[in-house]
Amino acid sequence: MQEQLKKLEEEFNQDCCSISSEEDIQELKVKYLGRKSLLSSLFSQIPNLSNEEKGLWGMNLNKFKLRIASIIEEKARKLKAKDSDFDLTFPSAKVDTGSVHVLSSVNQAICSIFEGLGFVTLEGKEIEDEWHNFTALNFPDDHPSRDSFDTFYLDIQQDKDKGKSLLRCHTSPSQIRIMQQYKPPMAVISPGRVYRPDEVDATHSFMFHQIEGFAVSQNISFADLKGVLLRFAQEFFSPDVNLRFRPHFFPFTEPSAEVDLSCIICGQKKEKEKKCSICKDKGWLEILGCGMIHPNVLSACGIDPKKYKGFAFGMGVERIAMLKYRINDIRLFYENDVRFLNQF
Ligand code: DAH
Repeated sequence: MQEQLKKLEEEFNQDCCSISSEEDIQELKVKYLGRKSLLSSLFSQIPNLSNEEKGLWGMNLNKFKLRIASIIEEKARKLKAKDSDFDLTFPSAKVDTGSVHVLSSVNQAICSIFEGLGFVTLEGKEIEDEWHNFTALNFPDDHPSRDSFDTFYLDIQQDKDKGKSLLRCHTSPSQIRIMQQYKPPMAVISPGRVYRPDEVDATHSFMFHQIEGFAVSQNISFADLKGVLLRFAQEFFSPDVNLRFRPHFFPFTEPSAEVDLSCIICGQKKEKEKKCSICKDKGWLEILGCGMIHPNVLSACGIDPKKYKGFAFGMGVERIAMLKYRINDIRLFYENDVRFLNQF
């Protein structure tokens, strides 16, 4: 009996190795568990054994039967999973999903804060002309920005009256197009790409992104501008940041100011030994330019400056994103290195 069972087990193990189909499983079941199986004939020998051996062999054969039944069951399950190429127990392959680029998400976050304050998002044009990019914005004819060292001019002619075609060097010409198209009151946010022939380094790129904002109404003041910008900064950076307005000059605004954000890195706390590498211990970081829209700009758009006033501001998206996420090289935004992109 012992000998026969051992042989049966060896044969079963061997047969198991060559299973490759549903039919093989069926055959295995018939051969080892069926009524005419060898195992069944071993069971039928039990009545001939001594009483002591009867119990022992009954137990041994039943154990063996259960074991091979579960092995066959497992083989059948694996075969099925393989057939449908779907084994639930198998660890899944890593799936690389794409994500929104950090510049797009920062751009989106900024626009939606202003939208929450009642601004409408409208886009201008990337290919502009001298009139919209400079003249209507009150740049004098001899302003250095008009120089080809500072602006990319294009070899295409659009409207002769509007001067040469160019790649816009700021988003401010969006103000002109939108003010010409709509009647005040209005509050608009206008994001987009801008181009300047700058040497590329850690803080400069020949293409970058700006967000322009402006509002025109009969009763609007510098105080409204300050309120809107402070609200933006506190929502975007943190509720405890502050802003500082420094007098400045822009041709298209009067008065004009540059706006500094209280340093979000050191929180303006000057610890004796520690130097803040971001604000250089000044406690302030420049983030945008702004002012009250110059009356000449309103006039150029057909809006009566005696009746209407407006404020405007412009900021660089890369600069804001670099400050928020402490990114130290603007080139990282454009290289598409997934090790960088994956972090956002
Ligand atoms: N256009 C300016 C630049 O590119 C930024 C700017 C400053 C926009 C003041 C404005 C403003 O609307 O009021 O540097």
